[in-house]
Amino acid sequence: MSARDLLKPATREEARLLDELDPARLPRHIAIIMDGNGRWAQRRHLPRVAGHRAGVHAARTVIETCARLKIPALTLYAFSVENWRRPKAEVDFLMRLLREYLRKELPVIHRNNIRLLVIGRPQQLPREVREDVAMAMRTTAANTGMQLVVALNYGGRTELVDAFNAILDHVRHNGMDTFRVDEQTIAQHLYTAGLPDPDLLIRTSGEMRVSNFLLWQIAYAEIYVTDTLWPDFNRARLLEALVDFQKRERRYGGLSPSEPREFSEQALVGRRTRG
Ligand code: IPE
Ligand code: IPE
Ligand code: MG
Repeated sequence: MSARDLLKPATREEARLLDELDPARLPRHIAIIMDGNGRWAQRRHLPRVAGHRAGVHAARTVIETCARLKIPALTLYAFSVENWRRPKAEVDFLMRLLREYLRKELPVIHRNNIRLLVIGRPQQLPREVREDVAMAMRTTAANTGMQLVVALNYGGRTELVDAFNAILDHVRHNGMDTFRVDEQTIAQHLYTAGLPDPDLLIRTSGEMRVSNFLLWQIAYAEIYVTDTLWPDFNRARLLEALVDFQKRERRYGGLSPSEPREFSEQALVGRRTRG
């Protein structure tokens, strides 16, 4: 099978990139820090909010492309716990934009068998946003296609704090005096419990930082940073990231399969006598 069986290229560039892709080795989970909306607007002498609006268009394209490529999970960083530091007008606009997006796109998402999940601390979100999000999650709960995870009022450290407190509650509640934490316990208490860890982390707009995103889960993710600003991140840019991902050698602390395995006495002795 070729990647072209999954996705019809709209341009020659997309066609070339699709031909480079091996559909059997796509990531199981892509996580994206969608950054650069403000700068995109600034370059066009537009208000920042125009950048956020253009960013929604990019998100729609990426969601559709990942679903067609049958990527099992896609996580989009939409609003961080630190983003409350922005002017109230911008925060309000982002919340309104999210509700507008859900209202317009939920039928499309649902039709495409996509399951929507929101991770973060919903308690601090405006009530209307919380309700819309809960409704979207309920509507799509039984869908079996791609999991679309939206990180909203999300922070990686907050997530760990919430996980540890959930573990403590569980231990106290069950009187488990000798209980000890292991990696599995932690993973199971994160917002992302049940999802595979991201194998590809994309950040747009060139910033070389993770900005408190999925700190535990990205332990072995391949990181792809592009200077492209989020509103300009189109299908070709996503395919480019996927092609780059497939060129990476993932060693997980081990050795490359092409590396000679003999680390025997003999090899060492051989080297010594030769030297
Ligand atoms: C990312 O774009 C969107 C959110 C954080 C909600 P920014 O708004 O951070 O854009 P820049 O970084 O100022 O260009
Ligand atoms: C990261 O972008 C958060 C989101 C994309 C939602 P920011 O623009 O908030 O991150 P910093 O401030 O550059 O670290
Ligand atoms: Mg930013």
